[in-house]
Amino acid sequence: MKRVDCPADRISSSPEETIALGEEFGKQLPPGSVVALTGTLGAGKTVFTRGIALALGIGEEITSPTYAIIGEYEGRIPLYHMDAYRLAGDDDFRLAGAEEYLYGEGICVIEWPERLTLLPGHAIRVTITIRDDGKRRFHREGNS
Ligand SMILES: Nc1ncnc2c1ncn2[C@@H]1O[C@H](COP(=O)(O)OP(=O)(O)OP(=O)(O)O)[C@@H](O)[C@H]1O
Ligand SMILES: [Mg+2]
Repeated sequence: MKRVDCPADRISSSPEETIALGEEFGKQLPPGSVVALTGTLGAGKTVFTRGIALALGIGEEITSPTYAIIGEYEGRIPLYHMDAYRLAGDDDFRLAGAEEYLYGEGICVIEWPERLTLLPGHAIRVTITIRDDGKRRFHREGNS
């Protein structure tokens, strides 16, 4: 898989900047990518995912998939936006039929991936931290 350079370590001062970061990042994602987005409540995971969706040519509004577990969006590459917040663990994720998407041709973005241990080794891990000044720091690990 090609190297994804962004965001290795970036700061966002606003939701708009976070969307732009997500778009820049999303443009580099090949089909089959799995993005594990870690960060506290309100860190900006869903906002960042909106930017990824824009990069994939998705016009539809990305909403929080908390209750649905998976939001499916048709784009240049399909986007599967998942939220593991309410899951007890891997078994719940499997029962929701979500595991097979991780090995498909779409792009999976997973919020609250720390609830799961079954994520594939090729997952790109992005951590969002809210700084004391309210700005968001994006840090990327994996896939390098
Ligand atoms: N720099 C920023 N980047 C992203 N969001 C920001 C930023 N500054 C403020 N915000 C606000 O923070 C909130 C982020 O919400 P978002 O739904 O993306 O969080 P989340 O990480 O998905 O949370 P949850 O775990 O509840 O799903 C929004 O209300 C947004 O307007
Ligand atoms: Mg969210």
